Amino acid sequence: MGAFKEPHGGILKDLYLDEAAAEQAKRAALDFKSWDLNGRQLCDLELILNGAFSPLEGFNTREEYARILEEMRLPSGLLWPIPVTLDVDPGFAEKIGADETIALRDPEGVLLATLEVRDIWTPDKAREAATVFGTGAMADPEAHPGVDALLNRSGAVYLGGRLRGVEPQHHYDFKLFRESPAELRARFQKLGWRKVVAFHTRKPMHRAEQELTSRAARDCEANLLIHPVLGANGPGDPDRFTRMRCYEHLLARYPEQTTALSTLNLATRLAGPREALWHGIIRKNYGCTHLIVGRDHAGPVPGNASFYAPEAAQELFAQHQEELDITMVPAQDMAYVEDRAQYLPQDEIPSGMTARHLSDAEIRRRLDAGLEIPEWYSFPEVVAELEKAHPPRHRQGFAVFFTGLSGAGKSTVANALMVMLLESGARKVTLLDGDIVRKNLSSELGFSKEHRNLNILRIGFVATEIAKNGGIAICAPIAPYRATRRQVRDVVEAAGGFVEVYVSTPIEVCEARDRKGNYAKARAGLIKGFTGVDDPYEVPERAEVVIDTQDLAPELAAHRILVKLESLGYIR
Ligand code: PPS
Repeated sequence: MGAFKEPHGGILKDLYLDEAAAEQAKRAALDFKSWDLNGRQLCDLELILNGAFSPLEGFNTREEYARILEEMRLPSGLLWPIPVTLDVDPGFAEKIGADETIALRDPEGVLLATLEVRDIWTPDKAREAATVFGTGAMADPEAHPGVDALLNRSGAVYLGGRLRGVEPQHHYDFKLFRESPAELRARFQKLGWRKVVAFHTRKPMHRAEQELTSRAARDCEANLLIHPVLGANGPGDPDRFTRMRCYEHLLARYPEQTTALSTLNLATRLAGPREALWHGIIRKNYGCTHLIVGRDHAGPVPGNASFYAPEAAQELFAQHQEELDITMVPAQDMAYVEDRAQYLPQDEIPSGMTARHLSDAEIRRRLDAGLEIPEWYSFPEVVAELEKAHPPRHRQGFAVFFTGLSGAGKSTVANALMVMLLESGARKVTLLDGDIVRKNLSSELGFSKEHRNLNILRIGFVATEIAKNGGIAICAPIAPYRATRRQVRDVVEAAGGFVEVYVSTPIEVCEARDRKGNYAKARAGLIKGFTGVDDPYEVPERAEVVIDTQDLAPELAAHRILVKLESLGYIR
């Protein structure tokens, strides 16, 4: 192939079968047991099959796994720091015999590859977490998303063996930017690029990153590859579509013909130092000669010392870069020096001059509040994309979630609030009142704990969709259980705002009202498991608004909620 840089282990793997063999495999696979791959496994599969994980030829066998944990090496002695295993449920593993071939499918059932299973074993995940992630030195390992995924959200049994690719995964987005190592190498060759420095990122890039990457390329006299990972999003990070549009805008900010953009379908583990080495190996497979390595490269929260010591990733990389044959370019922390109207590395800032910096949290706060993001921080076209993706709060969707006993006044206040919000005309409003929901969405459900939870989660699902699309969802179920309300809050907050309103009217008052006669029936034992009578109501601990309708008219109660929404910035 004439590439200028040998892949890891000398040969760039391509594990896809040719057309005839793939047809044959598809027919044979009709009799195979099937495993439907999850998101992380789909990423791993793609990068094994297309050679990004060369020299791997399948999911790690037991022997490979043991050596990787122990020594960061494959049995051949080649460096390989991160296990790439196929985790499955014990129930599925039990059905598989040794040396059986299984079909690996995407969520729609399309056959992507076959796996000749060689080993089936139950790993010691605590040990894996300790060696790969270094949990021994962490104050709260389970707060690390990679450790949490390994310990709490992955299958208990691993399968290892040889893979054969039947069909590449179909992606509908960014087709031009999704390149295999062979394709990217061919692009470099066509462009005549012999030295390429890769920049790994999972965040939008602003002026500081543009300066940092430009300097790195200049210093190494190399071309630049912006190589973002599209999958992993941190909480509050923009979606991949927004990020890609930002990167495309950024491309125009580099001198012509110097910089390329391509994507990497990597499921990051955020394993810090070990992961940095892995990123180096992968970039070498893609034909790069250099990799920019940050101070806290591949750590879960940039700068969070409770996970990895500062510079640990750079130190480990430095120890191995000669053997790996890819050069590390340590990322310099760039800061804006106003007196110079330019970005400089922290350690080159002349004494007496102050540097300016805005944290990610501050950027989010400004976006939320619709405040300006200064020109020295980012490019106007990038800022415009971020503003589009993250409108100020008064244009974001949100849910007002009422909770309280039957007869507390939830529906009445919810209706008043709906009318007031409609009157202002700012957004579309949907009322998901208990009665309406139970008639339509949850008509088959009763009042057992399971059914109530299901009912509330369905309301949460609909509210999330409404909030995601910029609307207002007013929900008014009893929602008696704290844990379920918490779950709903978490899903809605990922899409927009969540304002919990506890209607705290005491049970005596609700019972005295007893508009539907349900309390009387419950006391007489005609309705079993009635909330507040013989089924619990768990009082909210952190509701944004608390309303007792005993001494507050519905209109005034609704008004109080409006004031809260205004103070939170959701309406103006
Ligand atoms: S839950 O717990 O959130 O799923 O309840 P919700 O969907 O809001 O439904 C509450 C209304 O159903 C009537 N009802 C009961 N409530 C509580 N417990 C039991 N066992 C029960 N059986 C029927 C009750 O009158 C509620 O109506 P509202 O309009 O809230 O008074």
